[in-house]
Amino acid sequence: MGGYQSNHTRQVAAVAAHLGLRCRLVQERWVPWDDPTNTQVGNILLSRMMGADSRLDPAGFDIGIRDSWKDALREVEEAGGTPYAIPAGASEHRLGGLGFANWAFEVAEQEKALGITFDTIVVCTVTGSTHAGMIVGFAALEDLTGVRRRVLGIDASATLEKTTDQVARIARHTAELIELGRDLRDDEITVLEGWAGELYGLPVDSTMEAMALGAHLEAMITDPVYEGKSLAGLIDLVKDGEIPRDSHVLYAHLGGQPAINAYHSLWPAQG
Ligand SMILES: Cc1ncc(COP(=O)(O)O)c(C=O)c1O
Repeated sequence: MGGYQSNHTRQVAAVAAHLGLRCRLVQERWVPWDDPTNTQVGNILLSRMMGADSRLDPAGFDIGIRDSWKDALREVEEAGGTPYAIPAGASEHRLGGLGFANWAFEVAEQEKALGITFDTIVVCTVTGSTHAGMIVGFAALEDLTGVRRRVLGIDASATLEKTTDQVARIARHTAELIELGRDLRDDEITVLEGWAGELYGLPVDSTMEAMALGAHLEAMITDPVYEGKSLAGLIDLVKDGEIPRDSHVLYAHLGGQPAINAYHSLWPAQG
């Protein structure tokens, strides 16, 4: 489950298509963005193309477990199916943090190949398991190599407290799964606020400026929901010296471009 323009549900639809499984998506109105294309183009279109049964639900934004999701599971069972349940962003899933814990080790391999060590990782945080997984993966690497890094989550949920709690909970749970062997320090769990605006999914000035800068300077396309906000955070952290100029920063760009189609009105035609 996720919002109408959820990237994660689109990826679940893709994996289901690849494995020959049926896929039922619960897509809620997480963002008060009333462009009629919001339920027709971008991620939701791709999910439909990949054969997913994508159903719309009017419920608003919440990163936790929802009734609509429980209802969908019951309906699949009543229709004779055996559902495998994946919550929003896979974050409340028992194994949800593992993918990005392993990602830290992939980064370490690439660092060796590139001859570089990243001291700061910047990532967009909403439902939490991406950031939580990274925290645990880099904690395990720190214990192996002694290299301490900052893994900074930039909140894009606009529900900071809930998201921070969720990151901490998933990180501690994932630490147990990979047998980290110690508790995580508080300084390892950092979710920064200041770039989410008032609401999940709605860009603010800093989002638009960051998206324009990334696109104009590097043809790096970011979206108004996630990476536009984390890029705004990265820019300010560097400007303010919070991230020193001689840092090696790894900005984790997690995709999200398909959603831009539903936000076309932010870039009106000129002339
Ligand atoms: C493009 C993109 N960036 C960042 C995130 C944030 O990840 P998480 O929800 O695990 O915090 C998501 C989540 O769906 C995403 O789709």
